[in-house]
Order: sequence, then C-alpha cells, then structure tokens
Amino acid sequence: MISIKGLHTFGCEVQAEGLIEINTPEDLFTLYQKGFFSENKWLLLGGGSNVLFKNDFNGSILLNCIKGKEIRESGQDSVVVRFGSGEVWHEVVRWSLNNGFNGIENLSLIPGTIGAAPIQNIGAYGVELKDVFRSLQAFDTITGEVVSMQKEECRFGYRDSVFKHELKGRMIIISVSLELRKDGLTSVGYGDILKTMERYGLRPPYKPADVSKAVIEIRQSKLPDPAILGNAGSFFKNPVISSAHFEKLKVDFPDLPGYPDNRGEVKVPAGWLIERCGFKGKRYGSVGCHEKQALVLVNYGNGTGEEIIQLSREIQEAVRLKYKVDIYPEVNIIG
Ligand code: FAD
Ligand code: EPU
Repeated sequence: MISIKGLHTFGCEVQAEGLIEINTPEDLFTLYQKGFFSENKWLLLGGGSNVLFKNDFNGSILLNCIKGKEIRESGQDSVVVRFGSGEVWHEVVRWSLNNGFNGIENLSLIPGTIGAAPIQNIGAYGVELKDVFRSLQAFDTITGEVVSMQKEECRFGYRDSVFKHELKGRMIIISVSLELRKDGLTSVGYGDILKTMERYGLRPPYKPADVSKAVIEIRQSKLPDPAILGNAGSFFKNPVISSAHFEKLKVDFPDLPGYPDNRGEVKVPAGWLIERCGFKGKRYGSVGCHEKQALVLVNYGNGTGEEIIQLSREIQEAVRLKYKVDIYPEVNIIG
C-alpha cells in the first residue's frame, strides 16, 4: 500500500494499492489490452480537488498527466483549442488570457485539471464550463475505444453531467476542446466582481485580465488554500427548491437569499443555511466548517474521511430540521 495523502486536496492520510501515471492516451490502451480495467478496482485522479476518500482505497489510482494544447480552428472572432486532459485548469486560463482569448476568466483559480472540468461542469462567478465547451474525447474503459462527445451528449447541468450518471466511472476524458472568444468582452454580472472593479478604480468596458485578477482576489479572501488547509471547495451543492417552498421559508427567514431559475425554482445558498444552523467556524476535533465560507468543510491536519462525512451528515440533518431543505454533497465520495 502507498500513501496518496498528497494526491487529494483534503489531505487525509489514505493509502492505495497502486499508483499508475497516465502520460498518453496510449497508456490507457495498453492497460486495456492487459485487461486492467475489467480485472481491477481503479480510480482516475486529476488534481484530487473534488474527492473525499472514506477509507483506504483498495485498488489502483491512475494519475492523469496527459498534457498538450493545440489550436484546432482559428476564426476572426473565436478560436477552438484542444487541451490534453491533464493540463492544470488555472494554467489553461492563464495561457488563454496571455494569448488574447477570453471566456474563462471568471473561472480563474479553480483547482484541478481540465479533464475533470466537464465531470461537474465547473462554474464560478456567473460562468460555467458549458458556456465555452465545444467537445471532448474520452477513452471508453469497457470497449477500449476513443469516443468523441459534443456538448449536448454531455448533458451539462448545475454541477452535473452525464459523467455523474450513466457514464459514471466508465469514461476517461483524454482531451477537452474549448471555443474561446477574441472579442475581449467579459461578464461582470456577479456583484462581488463589480464591487472589486470599482475598488480598482476601473470603468467599463472591463478587460478579461482585470476580471481574472478580481476573481482571484475574491476567491483568496474567502476560500481556504488547500496547500495550507485541507478542503475540496464547496462540500455541498446549493439546493434548488420550489418557489412555493421558498416563499414559505421567507415568512420565517425574511433575509434568506434566493436566485430564481427559468423553470420556476429557486436556488438557495447552502452556505447561508449552514451558517444560520451555527456551524460556521466550528471545529470538531481535526475537522471543521470553514470560518469564512460555511459551505467548505476543512481538515486541520489529522482528520479522516469518516470524520468529515460524520460532520457533513450532522450539517445535512440540521439544515433539514430547520428549513426542510435537503442538501447533497458536491464532492465525490470514494469508497
Ligand atoms: P479530481 O478531484 O481529481 O476528480 C474529481 C472526479 O472527477 C473524480 O470522480 C475523478 O475520478 C473524476 N475525473 C477526474 N478527471 C477525470 C478525467 N480526465 N476523466 C474522467 N473522470 C475524471 N469547483 C467548481 O465548479 N467551482 C469552483 O469555484 C470551485 N472552487 C474550488 C475551490 C477549492 C479551494 C477547491 C479545493 C475546489 C474547488 N472546486 C470548484 C472543485 C474542484 O476544483 C473541481 O471540481 C475540479 O474540476 C476538480 O478537478 P480535479 O482534477 O482536481 O478532479
Ligand atoms: N453565504 C453565507 N454564509 C457563508 C457562505 C455564503 O451567508 O458562510 C451567503 C453569501 O453571503 C452569499 C451566498 O451565500 O449571499 C453565496 O455565497 P458565495 O458567493 O460565496 O457562493 P456560494 O454559493 O457559497 C458558489 C459555488 C462556488 C463558487 C462561488 C462563486 C456551489 C456549490 N458553490 O458558492 O464553487 O466559487 O459560488 O461563483 O455552487 C465549488 O464548487 O467548490 C465552489 C467553490
């Protein structure tokens, strides 16, 4: 058994039976030919920033190191770039900005690899991966074939895709193609960004690089750096409830924020609900609820997956009791 503590951002002491670096798609094919995928328990990891191991992993970790970037199409207004799935997401953002391509600046500083980005359709500050996603290539571990998937086939939703449902644990994404713009236009609809721009003394039209800078600053002000404090970002997804339920809650909790969607439902910030249940900043042994963002559970050093799960259950229960709202993990729980 080998320690994989350094391979996931919660930083719990976890062991796995084996560790295999995947440097090219051919490495996957070689494993397939040896019967690896059908005969072994395995898990592909990118940056390990959205997983929580319940216990030791009785199988092999495949570490995604597939690199590369290639401009596939270049028009007057946009460019299509294919990235190897092991490229680090924030480096992709920086590379895009440095080359004058915009569209993903609001997604600055999200940890992890681009290959994991489609799994939960990463999102932040009003932009989601799906807004720039063109297609991906994936290695099908059942058939041994490389398949190409277009946007509709990925069935992207809020922190959701087909890879969390029918295709869960089957496809290994080997490349992702993004369609980035060259128009320099950027989205600042999210309140915090506008406030930060004002503080910078900037006026519209805002530059994508300035939006990136603002997003980085906002994120650093409230999200813990996993290099210092173990965490996986938001532990739960924000719940989406019926507008009738929302209106009922507003009677007892008039300052409850809510963001209506176009299907007549309302997204409610789980961080707000959790904070008002008294968990924010509370420490329970080696684990806790972050002091600046109640949606983020943290490992102070020696915390275990079981302890974090135990805390998450208590939070779910408290939120259910107080608000009759169910909240579900965003983090992929392994084991
Ligand atoms: P991993 O944790 O390695 O894997 C996550 C899951 O995807 C696993 O089930 C894994 O098996 C699977 N997977 C990974 N790569 C592939 C692949 N190539 N093919 C098939 N399956 C694969 N997320 C957001 O959406 N928005 C945010 O603002 C955000 N902020 C965060 C802030 C912090 C501080 C942290 C720690 C996390 C944050 N996250 C956020 C969550 C996380 O960064 C994203 O989910 C990211 O996409 C995970 O990438 P990863 O490479 O680390 O994936
Ligand atoms: N809030 C509280 N208390 C808290 C935390 C938040 O009251 O402890 C309130 C805030 O005051 C605000 C609202 O909740 O009114 C929303 O807070 P915030 O802007 O911090 O965003 P979030 O809903 O908590 C989501 C994503 C983040 C993403 C940010 C920015 C989910 C599950 N999380 O967080 O994504 O970075 O918006 O767009 O959708 C992640 O997925 O890991 C992640 C960090």
